[in-house]
Amino acid sequence: MSHRGVIERYREFLPVSPGEEVVTLHEAETPLVPAPRLGAEAGVNLFLKLEGCNPTGSFKDRGMTLAVTKARSGGAKAIICASTGNTSASAAAYGARAGLRTFVVIPSGKIALGKLAQALVHGAKVISIDGNFDQGLALVRQIAAAHPAVALVNSVNPYRLEGQTTAAYEVCDSLGSPPDYLAIPVGNAGNISAYWRGFGRYRNAGRTSAVPVMLGFQAAGAAPLVSGQPVERPETVATAIRIGRPASWDLAVAAVRESEGSFTAVTDEEILRAYHLLATREGIFAEPASAASVAGLLKLAAAGKLRRGATVVAVLTGNGLKDPAQATANVPIPETVPPELPALERVLGLGA
Ligand code: F0G
Repeated sequence: MSHRGVIERYREFLPVSPGEEVVTLHEAETPLVPAPRLGAEAGVNLFLKLEGCNPTGSFKDRGMTLAVTKARSGGAKAIICASTGNTSASAAAYGARAGLRTFVVIPSGKIALGKLAQALVHGAKVISIDGNFDQGLALVRQIAAAHPAVALVNSVNPYRLEGQTTAAYEVCDSLGSPPDYLAIPVGNAGNISAYWRGFGRYRNAGRTSAVPVMLGFQAAGAAPLVSGQPVERPETVATAIRIGRPASWDLAVAAVRESEGSFTAVTDEEILRAYHLLATREGIFAEPASAASVAGLLKLAAAGKLRRGATVVAVLTGNGLKDPAQATANVPIPETVPPELPALERVLGLGA
């Protein structure tokens, strides 16, 4: 059976006991799609890892299957997270599947509508705070510390990162070897840390013989890892990565240092340009935060900082449908015509 879910597929690399009852939505095994047109623009052999094809539309499902499996087998009655949107959507879905209550804390007005809809439809208790993600995370950590029956499922939960290492294994399995570079958007910095651990583990297990250079990209208004300083009031159109104090700061810095990679900031304009290029030139609809990886690649390529002809994987972390407001912000409103052939031909420019 294909799409068995990350725990079954990569069980030998994950901390799950044989008898443990797994909570899965048969996540992962996402497509790795060549992007020849954008690759040509960047002068590289570019592949896109479509994490928006996961059951809840983002990479979060890889870690959530493990975190929720462990929460339930550990006797938790509820799970809790702070989120810029995708973690809450995934937690709500896996929580529902596990029969656990799900509590979600979100920054007021700063999460994409599709993600909010997911959390609500799955029946999570959603609380909006008049504050940002970093403040929300500090609060839910305190709740989980004070209430043992409530398991924290943010990426500070070690099982989240373990589950997310599977994306690195998949990239290597799909390509037959690791890429030269891995380009990835960075917010709370868990995912870049998980990929790096995964690539290292695969090499140490003899599955591959190298590891990629890690290229982390942050939005310019929320780029603490680029500046080296926390950002008190992060702002960006890419709400998923609107984070000023990444929880996995040290792990992410180590990933970039050990791989001889870099952190680079991309402006909202660069993010939105990449977002539209992905959609119009490659047929791929990713959310703005995900487009930061491609925006960053184009920026590094233009500065002559990418080796020409290198194999590059850009991680597209979430599905474009999650953020309909952004999607419809700068596109023409459909024209309305009478239901008549000549009128339709005229507006299509197909008239006589
Ligand atoms: N891309 C998307 C679409 C995300 O939702 C996130 C994080 C990231 C990239 C960055 O990943 O945090 O591991 O560096 N979203 C979290 C959330 C914070 O709450 O959904 P990271």
